[in-house]
Amino acid sequence: MARLDVIIADITTLAVDAIVNAANSSLLGGGGVDGAIHHAAGPELALECRRLGGCNTGQAKITGAYSLPAGKVIHTVGPVWNGGGQAEEALLAACYRSSLAVARDNGCRTVAFPAISTGVYRFPPAKAAQIAVQTVMAEVAQALGAFDRIIFCCFDEVAADRHRRALDELGALVPGASS
Ligand code: APR
Repeated sequence: MARLDVIIADITTLAVDAIVNAANSSLLGGGGVDGAIHHAAGPELALECRRLGGCNTGQAKITGAYSLPAGKVIHTVGPVWNGGGQAEEALLAACYRSSLAVARDNGCRTVAFPAISTGVYRFPPAKAAQIAVQTVMAEVAQALGAFDRIIFCCFDEVAADRHRRALDELGALVPGASS
């Protein structure tokens, strides 16, 4: 079973096989973690993204990472929160599922996720953390050794606590998990 860790870090600094970007459907960059990833990767990332023709909400596409220490960037588009009546929860789960499927298809064994949709897209962060942890745990359990380590890369202590609590509640907090 892959190790699941919660850390507090800037995802652009992580030397993992793949970092996940909380992008928008154009894949042409933006603010937040999307802006940080494009800034750190350099202009070639946008050039490659331009050739992908966008991405639907809940789906994921992979590119190179260029000047980033990560090996690849997996771009996924989270749902904008509109009160919960437009399948937002299912679409957020699909982001984690699609990203792990793309990672697995590309041999990425260590993957770091930001808290998708919890910034500009206004998804309730505690619920998002539960969905993130539940979905990743279920996918990793079925992946039969495809992954070594999945990181929930939080940008602050509050977000990290939410993810740790979700892991605790699911009884999955592995000994020595990074904080
Ligand atoms: N490393 C890790 N996490 C980060 C970083 C970073 N460098 N920068 C921001 N975050 C965190 C935020 O604190 C938030 O918890 O990423 C989470 C997602 O926030 P956003 O980046 O705003 O992403 P999202 O809510 O999914 O909105 C996506 O915002 O930037 C635009 O182009 C993007 O249109 C898209 C939308």
